[in-house]
Amino acid sequence: MPVPGPGYSITVRLEAPPSASAAGDLTSAVGRAGGVITAFDVVESHNDRVVIDLTCNALSANHAKDITDTLETLPGIVVRKVSDRTFLVHLGGKIEIASKVPLRNRDDLSRAYTPGVARVCEAIAKNPDDARRLTIKRNTVAVVTDGSAVLGLGNLGPAAALPVMEGKAALFKKFAGVDAWPVCLDTQDTEEIIRAVELIAPVYGGINLEDISAPRCFEIEARLREKLDIPVFHDDQHGTAIVVVAALRNALRVVNKDIKDCRITVCGVGAAGSAIIRLLQAQTPGDIIAVDVDGIVHRDRPGLDSNLKSIAASTNKDNQAGRLHDALVGSDVFIGVSAPNLFGADQVATMAKDAIVFALANPDPEIDPMEAQQHAAVVATGRSDFPNQINNVLAFPGVFRGLLDAHARTITDAMLLAAAQAIADVVDGDRLNASFIVPSVFDNTVAPAVAEAVRKAATS
Ligand SMILES: NC(=O)c1ccc[n+]([C@@H]2O[C@H](COP(=O)([O-])OP(=O)(O)OC[C@H]3O[C@@H](n4cnc5c(N)ncnc54)[C@H](O)[C@@H]3O)[C@@H](O)[C@H]2O)c1
Repeated sequence: MPVPGPGYSITVRLEAPPSASAAGDLTSAVGRAGGVITAFDVVESHNDRVVIDLTCNALSANHAKDITDTLETLPGIVVRKVSDRTFLVHLGGKIEIASKVPLRNRDDLSRAYTPGVARVCEAIAKNPDDARRLTIKRNTVAVVTDGSAVLGLGNLGPAAALPVMEGKAALFKKFAGVDAWPVCLDTQDTEEIIRAVELIAPVYGGINLEDISAPRCFEIEARLREKLDIPVFHDDQHGTAIVVVAALRNALRVVNKDIKDCRITVCGVGAAGSAIIRLLQAQTPGDIIAVDVDGIVHRDRPGLDSNLKSIAASTNKDNQAGRLHDALVGSDVFIGVSAPNLFGADQVATMAKDAIVFALANPDPEIDPMEAQQHAAVVATGRSDFPNQINNVLAFPGVFRGLLDAHARTITDAMLLAAAQAIADVVDGDRLNASFIVPSVFDNTVAPAVAEAVRKAATS
């Protein structure tokens, strides 16, 4: 059951009588309405009234309104203003550019800008590779989107995608010191996106594609990889695949199974599912059964697009047909990157002994994790309020740190696997158990470990 969290947090500024009971009345009212108080600050005090900032977590925007309405019904309470703390965080954007060099006087100016900068420009014109040494290219990544698949919200367009891309840039900086910049393109035409990224590429040491819908994301990434001399990485595909492979590696250690003997059902063969399947295949699992909205992907299924055709050709050894429930029977592992509430405990019971269930659809997983736990030995979700959160933040900052440090021009499956292994290895044998198969996103040893593994794989 969801609990009130900081994603829906409000601060209610209200006037209350200066009585001894006012605070208790307010906190009880919030509790009755199902909110969770996180702060209670008296911001003004007068003989006849106090002004209070009451901060509390809610379940949703509607729930936040219910809490405010409840407060307003209390005798003597006047609600002055309600601030949504999430919107406050976003006011004016979340990132900025700062100068790394002093600009105090004409002397500084002459070196950082004209006339001195001209000699640096000429040096780069003579030797373009020097751009990696003498400009921000060395440490800068473009976070490119067309806004066509924003989080789980769908096609919101480039402007509405910007808060996500800003957040991503902030995470790049926080976890790996990478300077990332959002590039939200006002087009969803494959050719225009490819051309636009090609045109801006000189500034960047890497391209992180983000929230571009499948199947266009596959072609855009493949063509950009061919054209550019910097690594191109679609995080919704490969960031997810890296963390899933890391988590699965550790989950299999917990249940003492070898991936080579495992039947793995992957539900969802879009951006995330396709990349997960491809990275799993690099470890030669027993078999993979891919399932999408039309059922099990098999070689005789009509209407397969080129992505599904190649998946059908390399999975499902027995060419099984059917629905998700059929695929689950006897499976050792379920990996869901598809849609909410697709199956229940009864279907988990049909899986092999010591089943592993990764139900990663956001915000609601393919199966309620509490139900999955009834029969599965290890359960993971994308949620932060449940153990084993599969979160791309574990991968992308360190991956790009490693690529930039190696001056990499491409990215390979060997680098992705090295990143996965590094994440898995952060959880040492003493800490590994069914509720701890991946490190915390705030474990500051993860990004350096991933960066080092990727750097080594890129330079070997
Ligand atoms: N937790 C994480 O780390 C993480 C990472 C990536 C994606 N996800 C989640 O995975 C889901 C898919 O993401 P995506 O970017 O790959 O989306 P996508 O749109 O590219 O692909 C969705 C896939 O799910 C399939 N699908 C939809 N409804 C289905 C159903 N009822 N039964 C079976 N299959 C069904 C579709 O056919 C498609 O293959 C989203 O909910 C996303 O939030 C989670």
